[in-house]
Amino acid sequence: MTSMISMRGVCKNFGTQAALTDFNLEVGRSEIVTLIGPSGSGKTTALRCMNFLETHEGGEIYIKGARLGYFEDAAGRRQRDTERNITGVLSPLAMVFQQFNLWPHMTALENVMAPLVLGRRMAKDKARNIAGAALERVGLSHRAAHHPAHLSGGQQQRVGIARALAIQPEVLLLDEPTSALDPELADEVLEIIQALAREGMTMVMVTHEMSFAADISSRVVFMEAGEIIEAGPPRSIFETPDSERLRDFLAPWKRRGLAVHMGRNAGTEAV
Ligand SMILES: Nc1ncnc2c1ncn2[C@@H]1O[C@H](COP(=O)(O)OP(=O)(O)O)[C@@H](O)[C@H]1O
Ligand SMILES: [Mg+2]
Repeated sequence: MTSMISMRGVCKNFGTQAALTDFNLEVGRSEIVTLIGPSGSGKTTALRCMNFLETHEGGEIYIKGARLGYFEDAAGRRQRDTERNITGVLSPLAMVFQQFNLWPHMTALENVMAPLVLGRRMAKDKARNIAGAALERVGLSHRAAHHPAHLSGGQQQRVGIARALAIQPEVLLLDEPTSALDPELADEVLEIIQALAREGMTMVMVTHEMSFAADISSRVVFMEAGEIIEAGPPRSIFETPDSERLRDFLAPWKRRGLAVHMGRNAGTEAV
């Protein structure tokens, strides 16, 4: 299995607060790894470290076998890599944000073009074609000229996904892609993620949509206080959790009668 992302003993602190402690994760090609856990458990930090939006103080991260962010000098001291090398190592990754992070003064099309033109220095005509195709993929060709303020939340997040897809990533990182959306708008976003999964896109996703996680994930990772408490296929995580902490975490969903193991249309969510 090709390792797309490998995190080995990664540590990340914010001041005296440990956000990740000895964090180990392997993500293979076409795997869909879902991070779940209570608020503050380090899920966002784990994603942001993978994309070097946060720097890690300890351990190593590899993207397709290339070390991210640092190297050891002749004296064995850890040194920060050049920006050029870091950008290169990160090139297979794209991120979808909880709050969409679209530019309000740009149209949908311009938002999707931005990483191509500004980040990758692509000619505008070429970028426009690629961005148009990405918007078509998320069903928003007819909204290309609209500004974010004139799009629904679901449509804004679909633009966010199109922007991520435009750079032709091999791995998508998604941080609670639907949690800022009303439930009726979440579905149109989940359907696109589902379609990408079917096409074999590698994904690392943080979500609180437990039935969706159960349905789509190759592996589910339960985190608490910056550590992985339990990881495994959705069936073992949702149906036969080993740890008390995971059972406690899942209890509210079970109480609400979500048949998490039966796929997202089989539960009682519609009630
Ligand atoms: N920029 C930051 N500055 C200080 N502390 C942070 C920052 N980002 C996250 N933290 C802390 O790190 C821990 C993990 O946060 P986070 O990764 O956002 O958790 P989650 O996404 O699981 O809710 C929390 O204790 C949080 O308060
Ligand atoms: Mg978070």
